[in-house]
Amino acid sequence: MKNKKAIITGGGRGLGKATAIAFAKEGIDVAITGRNEAVLKETVSELETYGVKATYSVFDVGNYEAVKTGIKSIIDTLGTVDILVNNAGIAAFGTFNDMPVEQWSQIMQTNVMGMYYVTKEVLPYLIEKNEGDIINVSSTAGLSGNATTSAYSASKFAVIGLSESLMKEVRKNNIRVCTLTPSTIASDMSIDLGIATKDSEDSVLQPEDFAELIVAGLKLPRRAMLKSAALWSTNP
Ligand SMILES: NC(=O)c1ccc[n+]([C@@H]2O[C@H](COP(=O)([O-])OP(=O)(O)OC[C@H]3O[C@@H](n4cnc5c(N)ncnc54)[C@H](OP(=O)(O)O)[C@@H]3O)[C@@H](O)[C@H]2O)c1
Repeated sequence: MKNKKAIITGGGRGLGKATAIAFAKEGIDVAITGRNEAVLKETVSELETYGVKATYSVFDVGNYEAVKTGIKSIIDTLGTVDILVNNAGIAAFGTFNDMPVEQWSQIMQTNVMGMYYVTKEVLPYLIEKNEGDIINVSSTAGLSGNATTSAYSASKFAVIGLSESLMKEVRKNNIRVCTLTPSTIASDMSIDLGIATKDSEDSVLQPEDFAELIVAGLKLPRRAMLKSAALWSTNP
């Protein structure tokens, strides 16, 4: 995988950052994206310590014009792209009646439209080189709905539909599309939602576990692809 080029949305922190570090350790050049420039800059400095080329682009994945500009600038910098990890996402829980319409829409715009916009801008490069990998992050919430998760579950169900359809469409182009449905992993998101705590290292999945799964999938021979994977903790 050495010298491959990867784009990771939401790569400044959480699961995206752990994936960026795991990629850098494999010698992959990485571009990370997000809305917070200070966080992205700090993560890029950390990635550079592994001796790879690292860069960042600041854009909201839910804004198509910004995505177009951001992806183009990344590909100009990296020269090409081989791997896309659609990781950026937001979550909020609330009853169907209580959650404001704007918040419900923002979750869909970020998690679904954001993934669509970024993929739409990257896919032509992968089709042209007749090789590539796209990893799309859904969730266990994308496999079953729960009380107070209507927005997040709707978005993560949609991610699975988008991702599996795309997989069937571009297999023939030697592009592997993988849909991940992880359970709770300790990150800002799960801590803010109150479903994990900072000191839960031994009992809750860590971002590094998620990153290890992605790297393992990418290391499969090209004739094989990890179509989907559900990462669960051994601790019930
Ligand atoms: N943690 C879990 O338990 C868990 C379980 C299953 C699935 N997931 C999924 O895994 C992915 C990563 O989650 P995480 O736990 O690492 O969350 P996190 O710690 O909250 O990080 C979210 C990342 O997404 C970026 N992001 C959010 N909204 C964005 C937007 N509109 N435009 C661009 N970037 C945006 C953030 O960057 P900025 O703040 O810089 O914009 C940040 O890097 C998400 O898709 C999440 O739904 C998480």
